[in-house]
Amino acid sequence: MKNLTLLILGSVLFFSCNSTKKEAPKNNEEELVMYEFSEMALLMEEMYKANEDLKNKIVNKEAIGDFSDKFLDIHSAVLTNPKDRDASFEIFSKAFLENQKAIYSASPDDVKDQFNLMVNSCVACHKTTCTGPIPRIKKLLIK
Ligand code: HEC
Repeated sequence: MKNLTLLILGSVLFFSCNSTKKEAPKNNEEELVMYEFSEMALLMEEMYKANEDLKNKIVNKEAIGDFSDKFLDIHSAVLTNPKDRDASFEIFSKAFLENQKAIYSASPDDVKDQFNLMVNSCVACHKTTCTGPIPRIKKLLIK
């Protein structure tokens, strides 16, 4: 019974995390409904974009700049489902932030591995809360 509850809960979370998939809106009304992002979903999209840029800089051996305080908003941004912010969420956020910060102080030899560690800490949290975007997040990994 407990397993069944978890399964149902899991699929609800799975679908809510998939519900913001972008599709071409047919009219304005639909656009309003389909683009209702939570603060956290918006932040996640920003983090994705920032790390895509960072990946390109690392691959091209360009200067990567500094850690952005924007990432710290993960501690406060409002979630689609506020109950997702539990003790485990906080632990995963901290681990992620530490890995993100460490990229900027890594040596040139280590920066790629540190970047991939950060991506894996995005994935680690997603395995517990929101599995939908995992394949997309894994595309950030530097081969
Ligand atoms: C501490 C847990 C956690 C960490 C770390 C985390 N995420 Fe998320 N992510 C979530 C949750 C929860 C959601 C759902 C947010 C919502 O619906 O409010 C989400 C949503 C997303 C989405 C979907 C946003 C949308 O369009 O609806 C993407 C993409 C994403 N995260 C990418 C990332 C990337 C890239 C990283 C690392 C740079 C990352 N996440 C780190 C928990 C996390």
